[in-house]
Amino acid sequence: MPSISVFGAQWGDEGKGKIIDRMAIDADCVVRYQGGANAGHTVVVGGDRYVLHLIPSGILHAGKVNVIGNGVAVDPLKLIEEIDGLIERGTPVDGKNLRLSAGAHVIFEHHRRIDQLSERWRGDGRIGTTGRGIGPCYADKAARAGLRVTDLLDADVLRRRLTAILAEKNALIERVHGESPVDLDEQLASYASAGDRLRPFVGDTGAEVRRAYRAGKRVLFEGAQGVMLDIDAGTYPYVTSSNTGVAGVAAGASFPPSQLDGAIGIAKAYCTRVGEGPFPSELEGAKADELRAAGHEYGATTGRPRRAGWFDAVAVRYALELGGAEGWVMTKLDVLAGLGDIEVGVAYRHGGERFTEYPSHLSAIDEVEVEWRSLPGWAEDVSGVRDFAALPENARSYVEWVEKEVGVPIVMLSVGPERDAVISRGL
Ligand code: IMP
Repeated sequence: MPSISVFGAQWGDEGKGKIIDRMAIDADCVVRYQGGANAGHTVVVGGDRYVLHLIPSGILHAGKVNVIGNGVAVDPLKLIEEIDGLIERGTPVDGKNLRLSAGAHVIFEHHRRIDQLSERWRGDGRIGTTGRGIGPCYADKAARAGLRVTDLLDADVLRRRLTAILAEKNALIERVHGESPVDLDEQLASYASAGDRLRPFVGDTGAEVRRAYRAGKRVLFEGAQGVMLDIDAGTYPYVTSSNTGVAGVAAGASFPPSQLDGAIGIAKAYCTRVGEGPFPSELEGAKADELRAAGHEYGATTGRPRRAGWFDAVAVRYALELGGAEGWVMTKLDVLAGLGDIEVGVAYRHGGERFTEYPSHLSAIDEVEVEWRSLPGWAEDVSGVRDFAALPENARSYVEWVEKEVGVPIVMLSVGPERDAVISRGL
């Protein structure tokens, strides 16, 4: 497919980085369209582990164009750190293989500070954000009080706009939160110099991607987070501040939706969530600890232990339906080995009603009861298996049963962190 969107079908951390890294082999252009350095895409190549936050996963392949689209909230200091880190490890990064949209909104120190201070203010009602300034940056974008990458390139514009904006933000920081203000001169110096450094990467990436597509190049849109964290479709207000799914591609990459040729969802064989908010299929106690340990479920960006639970067919079905996915990838199947019987959430119950379709109209998703189906587990390590028929019978039955329950074909299975640790079923 000449253009394809790959998105998370749970609450993020589905293992998208590795799948996109693999799919990038067949792409010419890999495009991020939303989120920011809250994302952490882990890719393991030849035993080396890379965690990418802003730069698309295609950067680890030579000859691909990687694009940070206008819908991404860009922390220029973090981006420079990431570029330098890759260069230090021998991966070339230049204005040819990395493109940055002039229209992407910029995360400043005050966004990070306000993100963290607002969380403190919310107390028990906190969202559990990554503290990277994502929400406040998108809020300013919508309030028309943001600065874009292009504004970093002109010292006068930067000074004028940042001076005006920071006056208001500092009033909030000082008078509402009682903290010391952000220093304007320090900010101007560091962001002007970041602008200079990033200048060779900056362009009209929307036009570049559309041109590439017209010329027959293959374009892969890389989602960050997952549909259940989408600001419209997810468990609001416990969500991130962007459209994480396919709907985000059009606006966030400036790409016409009618030219999107396909969509693939990614979901783990179980489920995790970081931060607060509803998680119907969550496990508590020893079983959760066991699953978390088996799956190494600690945040790639923040190091926080992730909440862990069983596969939720209701949520994944909803996410794949919203994304119009014709297939999905089930990741981390290897993690379930040795955990005993496996449960799958097949329906929710609430107020005397049974829901097999995700009840997005309910405000109290955290109050639903999950109806479970128990399936026999397996003990054998499957991380070396490359052929579906060679999986233990119970693992095969699990995959086939979940596939039927979700109603969308599983086109690939991932059985380990390495690039080649997959079982293809068509993808
Ligand atoms: P924010 O995106 O930092 O504002 O955080 C909002 C919510 O999204 C919090 O629950 C975060 O834990 C969650 N979140 C943000 N990015 C990721 C991610 O890459 N993986 C998983 N959860 C994320």
